[in-house]
Amino acid sequence: MRVVVVNNFDSMSDEVAKLVIAQIRRKPASVLGLATGSTPLGVYRLLGEYHKNGEDFSRLLTFNLDEYVGLPGDHPQSYRYYMEENFFSKVGIDRTRTHIPNGVASDLEAECRRYDELIRSTGGIDLQLLGIGSNAHIGFNEPGTPFGSETQVVDLAASTISDNARFFASLEEVPTKAISMGIKSIMQAKSIVLMANGGSKADAVLAAVKGPVTPDVPASVLQLHPSVTIVVDQAAASRL
Ligand code: GLP
Repeated sequence: MRVVVVNNFDSMSDEVAKLVIAQIRRKPASVLGLATGSTPLGVYRLLGEYHKNGEDFSRLLTFNLDEYVGLPGDHPQSYRYYMEENFFSKVGIDRTRTHIPNGVASDLEAECRRYDELIRSTGGIDLQLLGIGSNAHIGFNEPGTPFGSETQVVDLAASTISDNARFFASLEEVPTKAISMGIKSIMQAKSIVLMANGGSKADAVLAAVKGPVTPDVPASVLQLHPSVTIVVDQAAASRL
């Protein structure tokens, strides 16, 4: 596990965007695993700038980590909408090359199987971007999720619901379930970049990087992966 500590959010975003660009230049038809939340927003903005300056994103395939159950793609808080607003529309990628679990599928279990099979059929994710929850979740894999889990419907932890309430009009509007790529699905990526900024992530980063490897700390599983880079700002690294 390589840990890169940078000054602030902007330098974290810059560092991670450079890693993504290096991957795309090495392999223009890369399969990227993508994350949502506030943490990657700077990365997506910078990738949009790279595209304006001529970088070609058209051959990528993308798979997002997760989606809220019950929110259609045109709901402003759905992750499909977030990706459209912050990334897909900025880098000129054909939307048929972008994949996000369908949170309003009539058969959610079948949707989970379909998603894992689709990832497998591409040969697997080359580079997976991750944020981290304040309880060390990755994707929406909450503490206690078995390391062998594949894409599944999950119940969100109370702390995640309250962390994410800032994006909704009220706590009651936050969905209580999501479809999330599983821990095993994430660990199958060939390389992984986890980013974190701000003091509210310091405990989670410490537990993930230096704590015991345990399902109680989902991100600690990354210690077992052969190619992980953690890019954290000073506040998030303050307890390392
Ligand atoms: C969300 C997402 C995660 C994200 C995390 C942190 O709930 N499901 O993929 O990494 O929580 O979010 P933020 O970056 O807003 O702190």
